Amino acid sequence: MENSLHQEKILILDFGSQYTQLIARRVRECKVYSEIHPFNTSLDKIKRFNPKGIILSGSPASVHDREAPRINEQLLTMGCPVLGICYGMQHMVHLFRGDVEKSADREFGKAQLFIDDHTDLFHGLNGHSEMHVWMSHGDRVKALPADFTIIAHSPNSPVAAIRSTKYPLYGVQFHPEVVHTPHGKQMLENFVYTICACQPLWDMKSFIESSITQIREEVSQERIICGVSGGVDSTVVAVLLHKAIGKQLSCIFIDNGLLRKGEAQKVVEVFRKHLHIDLIHVDASQHFIDKLSTVTDPERKRKVIGEEFIYVFEKEAEKLGNVTFLAQGTLYPDVIESISLKGPSATIKSHHNVGGLPVRMKLRLIEPLRELFKDEVRVVGRELDIPDEMINRQPFPGPGLAVRILGPVSNEALSLLREADARVLEEMKKAELYNEVWQSFAVLLPVKTVGVMGDERTYENVIALRVVTSVDGMTADWVRLPYDLLATLSNRIINEVRGINRVVYDISSKPPSTIEWE
Ligand code: XMP
Repeated sequence: MENSLHQEKILILDFGSQYTQLIARRVRECKVYSEIHPFNTSLDKIKRFNPKGIILSGSPASVHDREAPRINEQLLTMGCPVLGICYGMQHMVHLFRGDVEKSADREFGKAQLFIDDHTDLFHGLNGHSEMHVWMSHGDRVKALPADFTIIAHSPNSPVAAIRSTKYPLYGVQFHPEVVHTPHGKQMLENFVYTICACQPLWDMKSFIESSITQIREEVSQERIICGVSGGVDSTVVAVLLHKAIGKQLSCIFIDNGLLRKGEAQKVVEVFRKHLHIDLIHVDASQHFIDKLSTVTDPERKRKVIGEEFIYVFEKEAEKLGNVTFLAQGTLYPDVIESISLKGPSATIKSHHNVGGLPVRMKLRLIEPLRELFKDEVRVVGRELDIPDEMINRQPFPGPGLAVRILGPVSNEALSLLREADARVLEEMKKAELYNEVWQSFAVLLPVKTVGVMGDERTYENVIALRVVTSVDGMTADWVRLPYDLLATLSNRIINEVRGINRVVYDISSKPPSTIEWE
């Protein structure tokens, strides 16, 4: 999408740091559009991108590695401002023939920073000649190249920040993008506003306007279909399209019978009553449940669900006839060409996706959110008046409750799990923890245990509770829920859900476990 929102852009060259996406988000929080590209993007391509500034990310690599990732040196002498972060700074120093050495100790965590030069990058931080920053590095700069000067130091890094006296080049050993560097935002603002002279043009209100214009141009008089799930991404896509092309849009909601308690009705109600978008509601639940009744293998479950989804969706689309476009809620993190310095990562679980759909159905894809991060999608959602409940909904996997029922899926198992799960959500909301955690849910285990209720022996099912925090679902930690809340959850589930006589709490982090049990 090329328009006024993108007039001024920051390019982030990725060397494989775990924080690269965070850098891009921070720049966008300054209302300046940023994109991530691999470190080895060609100079021509970079010139065509025409950035007003470049940020070099950190990296797990060392400049001394034989295969150390490198940029084209010319990038540093074009006159375009460059900020190197951690490895980015070391790489810059190395390219200009300075000296980078292994630190005696790997420095990880909070460090005190002493600012030596309060102009440009550290402008406005006068009251803070000493402050905390987040370090995470094994190498450090020992000797500066010619025409560079030190602008900050720390006890462990005599060269903690640098500036070139010849070109607009800056480097910081620490990570201004993480929250543990409290003044990092100010430093990035100084870089994008003062050093790169960017204006704050990127905001979600303008994004909505320009998306609508663009969708109208692209779709013209054609028809478009959009699958909705009740999740924030597909809902935002549907509302944007509806605003842009109204009646040319058909939204299809396939109820696969694997949703949480009351969820399917809620989706239909919000679309029809609140958003005033007509929805084709396909109740395919029994069809899915029948297909899953003998499947125990988790990967097979995912495949069956994915295939059936395509089958049902295709049938519905055929009924509509002459459709040209398919809309999808693809987000920016799915689009970034990821670089992997440690080799390709293995597929742990095949995620339910409908990637094959457009090709099979000969449809053209429209992905209005492909430039946005999840937090930006939420802002767009609020602007579009989508109810908070939907915007703040915890992530829910495509294969739904099927991967939370270990073993074959049946109506009985679904009903037990739904009832237990509904109580988890209710209590998490009551305790005001629902929005504080990444996910909170119940899992139905395929074992029965002995219990005693009144004077009677019981032999019933076990529910496991899973409550985790996470930033992006890639890693996660189990939440230290208050004991009283755990007690309430256990009491309510065992007393109120007939068929459950034991509740256990999952205390595994990811890795080595995963968030979902299957
Ligand atoms: P795992 O279990 O891999 O989950 O640690 C990480 C995050 O992804 C969600 N998840 C899925 N989402 N389709 C989805 O759309 C899937 O097949 C799927 N499997 C897991 C999971 O809920 C968690 O947020």
